[in-house]
Amino acid sequence: MKVTFEKRLIDAPPQVVTFVLEQHLALRKRYSYVLDLLHGREQTMWAGTASHPLGALLWKPYDDGRTWWVDFACTHPDARSKGIYLLLRSRLVARARRDPMVRTIESHVATWNTRMQDLNKKVGATQCSVRFRYAVRGV
Ligand SMILES: CC(C)(COP(=O)(O)OP(=O)(O)OC[C@H]1O[C@@H](n2cnc3c(N)ncnc32)[C@H](O)[C@@H]1OP(=O)(O)O)[C@@H](O)C(=O)NCCC(=O)NCCS
Repeated sequence: MKVTFEKRLIDAPPQVVTFVLEQHLALRKRYSYVLDLLHGREQTMWAGTASHPLGALLWKPYDDGRTWWVDFACTHPDARSKGIYLLLRSRLVARARRDPMVRTIESHVATWNTRMQDLNKKVGATQCSVRFRYAVRGV
C-alpha cells in the first residue's frame, strides 16, 4: 500500500472507505490479467458483503511463491477493533500453511502507523527491513 494512501485511509470518513473497498475490488478484477502477468496472481480476502464491505486484505505471491506479500489491508472505520483484520489475517495464515511452497508473509507498514505496527507485533511478525527516503527537494 502506498504510504500516502495508507495515511489517508486511517482517518477517512466511513463512506469514503466503503467506496475505496468497493473500487479496489472492482479495479483489481478489471486489471487482474495485467497484474497477474506483471506480479503474479493477486488474491483477495473479504469480510462483509459486496454491498456492505467491512474489510479486505489483498496479497500476491513473490519469490516463486515462497513469500506472500500483503498489498492492502483495511477495515471499515465502523467495524474497527472488532477483530476483522485479525480474522482475515488468521485465514490468510491458514491458507499459507496449506501451501507447501510458502515460507513467509510480508508487508510494508509506515513507521507512523503505530496501530498496524502493534498488530504485527501482536501476531508475532518481526520487522525485517528499513526503508530509506532521500528528499530530492526540501521537505
Ligand atoms: C489497521 C487496521 C486494518 C486494523 O483493523 P481492525 O479490524 O480494526 O483490527 P482488529 O479488530 O482485528 O484488531 C484490533 C484490535 O481488536 C481486538 N479484537 C480482536 N478480536 C476482537 C473481538 N472479537 N472483539 C473486540 N475486539 C477484538 C484485538 O485484540 C486488537 O486489540 P488492540 O488494538 O488492543 O491490539 C485498521 O485500523 C485500518 O483499516 N486502518 C487503516 C488502513 C491501514 O492502516 N492499513 C494498514 C496498512 S499496512
